Formats: sequence, structure tokens, C-alpha cells
Amino acid sequence: MKVDKTINSFLLYLAVFSMLITGYYVNRIALSNNVAGEYVTQISLTGSRLSDKVYATVSKNSERKIADVYSTEYACVLYNISDSAMKNWKMLLTVPEGTIVESTQNAESIFYTDNSTLIISPEDYNVEIGSYEAIDFFVSLSTREEFNPGQIKFVGYQDYTKKHDYLGGVIIAAIFIWSIAFVGFLVTKYNLRSYYDKQQNSARIILQSMNTFISFIDAKDPYTRGHSKRVAMYAAEMGKRMGLSEDEVQNIYYAGLLHDAGKISIPDAVLNKPGKLTDEERRCIQDHTISGGNMLKQLSSIRGIRETALYHHERFDGNGYPEGLKGEAIPLYARIVGVADSYDAMSSNRVYRRHLNKDEIIEEIQKGSGTQFDPDIVKYMVDMINDGYVNVVKMETSDSDEDSKDFHLSESDIPGVYMGY
Ligand SMILES: [Fe+2]
Repeated sequence: MKVDKTINSFLLYLAVFSMLITGYYVNRIALSNNVAGEYVTQISLTGSRLSDKVYATVSKNSERKIADVYSTEYACVLYNISDSAMKNWKMLLTVPEGTIVESTQNAESIFYTDNSTLIISPEDYNVEIGSYEAIDFFVSLSTREEFNPGQIKFVGYQDYTKKHDYLGGVIIAAIFIWSIAFVGFLVTKYNLRSYYDKQQNSARIILQSMNTFISFIDAKDPYTRGHSKRVAMYAAEMGKRMGLSEDEVQNIYYAGLLHDAGKISIPDAVLNKPGKLTDEERRCIQDHTISGGNMLKQLSSIRGIRETALYHHERFDGNGYPEGLKGEAIPLYARIVGVADSYDAMSSNRVYRRHLNKDEIIEEIQKGSGTQFDPDIVKYMVDMINDGYVNVVKMETSDSDEDSKDFHLSESDIPGVYMGY
């Protein structure tokens, strides 16, 4: 799915990039043809005439008559008075039929006649007349009758390339920005992926470590196998429904997994004793909270783990253990895990009793609301029972319990419900 998204984004960028490149070249080609810049003007030659783009003069330089032929030299000046260069220009002059071009004094220009039209144009059509620059040349014509040019037609193309190529600039800027955005997108994508990989790897290590630890707890107390994971899931679900952040929900999940870590310190003879416990044995069992808290001191990087192990048997009315904390003095995670822990105890079979049914559990939990449990948390647990969430979880985990002798978190749990990503 992620790969598909990346390919889609890549193709989108590629399409836009191609459109911009195409647009840019179409624009360049259009401008180089200068179609929009064609400029045609008629310039009268009764003296020097000025158009709004070109100033041109054709003046008689000298004239001599040999027999019936008039040989006249004309001096031509073209002055470009526009803001951009003039390209591909030519001058057309109407002359008497039979006019002969005798000589030119500008090697850059060629002169030829087409019937009665004398066409004067640069040899290679590429002689530019720059903005506010002039070009001048001479032409000698031989005519049978005296000839005074009356009109000249000038055709030229203004070069808009530099002056008006806004579109080109905009497209170049857009391509530049899109390129940076695309590279940024790829870099971010790469960084995010490697960040998620690292995060997932860290999460995997944490869960595998916890998994190993849970196997010690389960080995110690086989009757409650799967208890830690179920409590973790119920507690995390409550945290989620309470609107806690993903990080908090994740931490509650970890805290739920390890809340009974201290059970390892209870002697087997006490832990698995089927009959009634003596006061000393009961104290010994209760001490799993203190030893759990001590064991998990080292795990300070995950917030709330130690406190949850230490305080998950405190009661909201202050009659719990080990410290008799009351109300909100009991850390939130411990209050949540305390409810989840009791629900799982009531909904699981024990050596000394069968599990309670749904109504009995709800009744028990509500009876404990405000005394054993935080009433604000109880309502979430009751909702979870009523809407069937916990039954689903229970079935999933119960099956696993029966099918496998070693009930552990699996690799597939890693990106699971409470991994937050
Ligand atoms: Fe416990």
C-alpha cells in the first residue's frame, strides 16, 4: 500500500514535471518563431518618415546619366526605435521594370528584383537590428527613366524572446520549485521510512524483551497464562476510549503487560497453594507489588511501568496495598490496570472457582465503583463489556491459551492495536 502511494505520487510529479517541460519548450519554439512579433509598415519616402517601430530613410546620394540610363546611388538607413531587436527583416521597394542593381556597398545585404519589386534583405536573414540601433547600406540602381522611390515596405519580426518571455521564466521557476519539492518529498519519504523502521525495530525489541519476561511470569503461574496480555489489551483499550494520546495508550499497554512482574518473587508453594492462605502467605503474595516495582525501576524509559506494578492493587477508597494510596493519588495507569486486572480475574476460570458471567461481572465492577475502582474508569470498562469488545478479545486470547502451551505476544502483535502507527 505504501509502495503504491509512493509510485502514485512519483507519477503525479512526473506528469506535472513533463507538462511544465513541454510547456516551456512550446513557449520557446513559439517565441523563436516570433509570430506574435511580426511587424509590417509602409514608409513613405517623401523625405524621412518615422513609424512607431522603425525609422527609415532612403535618400538619393548621387545621380549620373549615361546615354538613356540613369545610374543613381541611394543611401538607406534603418533605425530600430523599439525596445526589442528586429529580426528576419527585409525591405521592399517598387522600382521601374528593367531596373538593374549595379552595386552594393554592404556585403551583408543582397539585392534582387522580382518583376518591379526590389527586395533588400540580409543575406542570411539573421542580421539583427538591435534595440535603438541602426543599419545602413547603399544601393545603385540603373533605370531607363528618372526614378524617385515613393514608398518602401518594411517587414520585420520583433524579438520578444528576452523582453516578453514571462511564461518561460514562470515555467523555469515552477520547474525549479517542483524539483526541490520532489527531491524534498523523496528525502522526507526516505527519512520517514527509515525513522519508522527504526521505531518499529525498537518496538520489536521492547516487545520481545517483555515477551521473554512474561514467559517467566507465566511459567511461574500457569493458571493465569495469557492474563498479562489480556490485561494489557483491556487497559490500553480503556486508555484509548478515555482519549489518551497514542504514546500514553502504548505505555499503558506495556504497563499492563508487566504489572504482575513481581509474581516471580512469590514462592511456588504459596502461589499455587490450593487451600486457604495464612496471613503471612497473603502478605507474601501482596508483596509482589513491591518486588515488581523494585524490579522495574530500571525500566524508567517507559513511563508508568514501575508505578503500575507497584500500585495496581491500591483501592480508590484507600484500603488497598501496598501503601494505601487513595483516589487520584493512585497513578492513572495503575487505576486503569487495576480495573482491567479485576475484570480478567472475574472473567477467567481459577482453580477455586469458575468465571463469572457478563451480568455478574458488571454488577461486581459497579459495586466496586468508588470503593475499589475509580468511578470515572469503571464506566469505560462497563461500556467495553456491554458493546462486546472484551468478549472478542477474550475469545481470541482464550483460544491461544488452549492451543499453545506457551502463550506469548507474537511478532504479528508488534504493529498491532496499540503500536500507534
Ligand atoms: Fe497483581
